[in-house]
Amino acid sequence: MKKILGIETSCDETAMAVLDAGKNGFNVLSNVVSSQVKMHAKFGGVVPNLAAREHVKNISHVFNLALKEAGIKNFQSEIDLIAVTRGPGLGPALLVGLMFAKTLAWKYGEKIIGINHLEGHIYSNWLNGGNIKFPALNLIVSGGHTELVLMKNYGKYEIVGETLDDAVGEAFDKVARLLDLGYPGGPVVSKMAESGDPAKYALPRPMIKSKDFNFSYSGLKTAVLYLLKDLNAKKIKFRKEDICASFQNAAIDVLLQKTQAAGRKYSIKALCLSGGVSANKMLREKLSHIAVKNGWQYSQPEMRYTTDNAAMIAVAGYFESLKKTKRQLSWQSVEMDANLGF
Ligand code: KG4
Ligand code: ZN
Repeated sequence: MKKILGIETSCDETAMAVLDAGKNGFNVLSNVVSSQVKMHAKFGGVVPNLAAREHVKNISHVFNLALKEAGIKNFQSEIDLIAVTRGPGLGPALLVGLMFAKTLAWKYGEKIIGINHLEGHIYSNWLNGGNIKFPALNLIVSGGHTELVLMKNYGKYEIVGETLDDAVGEAFDKVARLLDLGYPGGPVVSKMAESGDPAKYALPRPMIKSKDFNFSYSGLKTAVLYLLKDLNAKKIKFRKEDICASFQNAAIDVLLQKTQAAGRKYSIKALCLSGGVSANKMLREKLSHIAVKNGWQYSQPEMRYTTDNAAMIAVAGYFESLKKTKRQLSWQSVEMDANLGF
């Protein structure tokens, strides 16, 4: 039995979780997420230095709460491993979590491992307790990423498709900004879309016909911008709900088609969804239908594990640590990702 402390500070969530990795699977003993989203909303997006400042302010409180909720009284004897996000993400934000984790590991002589944030999202599906079959295709959709990752086994990944410009979550955020709906855009755009007409406006499905599995979302966002300009210039009244529904339909259509095509090409056994946009109801429903239709096992994270959290980082830490030597798990070995994505 192993108890793992997960730490995640790559963006605007200060998160820590204690995970029990026992014989009967994973048990999340605590999962604390302190979100800064309200503060960044004023700026219409995440401001890296402000995010770092808030992480510094919150991190010790989040740490105490995560241990308390998990019933950990003696850190040194009860925690076996620290798993911390090493990137990609915002540099100043990542540094706070990494330095906190390294200091803990140094002080208590604890094992520590750096985790790729996207690998963390992938492993959010392992919190369902299900044995996921390989090869598994992961559709990772968030504010920073839109990727199709083929997973042949634990730790064996191949990126088979990705966005060439904006991420799909970013497109939701930008469309929300164009419609004055605030930040983050995904939750509000998808809510409004529920009472809108998805066929009201014909919006492009970028790259839907391309033979590869790459995506492009900046054109779709621009198409919404021009549509709004046109409607306003002609003084045509419109419902924001219809714009949201038409946009969401176009954005998700491309995800579905590319994912199905990639799944068939690579003869997958399982399809897994993850990342912040995996909270989208329409995407969850339609992707699960595709999996059933093709005879693939299907997994999507519980809602609380869709957005950034540290439980998923702890699960990734469990699997990754199995392959590492004691020296590789020392506090001196943990480094920040070279690819910071900004
Ligand atoms: O994974 P995440 O918490 O942070 C990143 O690593 O980016 O994802 C946040 C993204 C934001 O762009 C947000 O608008 C989007 O996930 N999102 C959604 C929904 N809920 C959150 N997008 C579409 N529909 C939703 N229901
Ligand atoms: Zn994320």
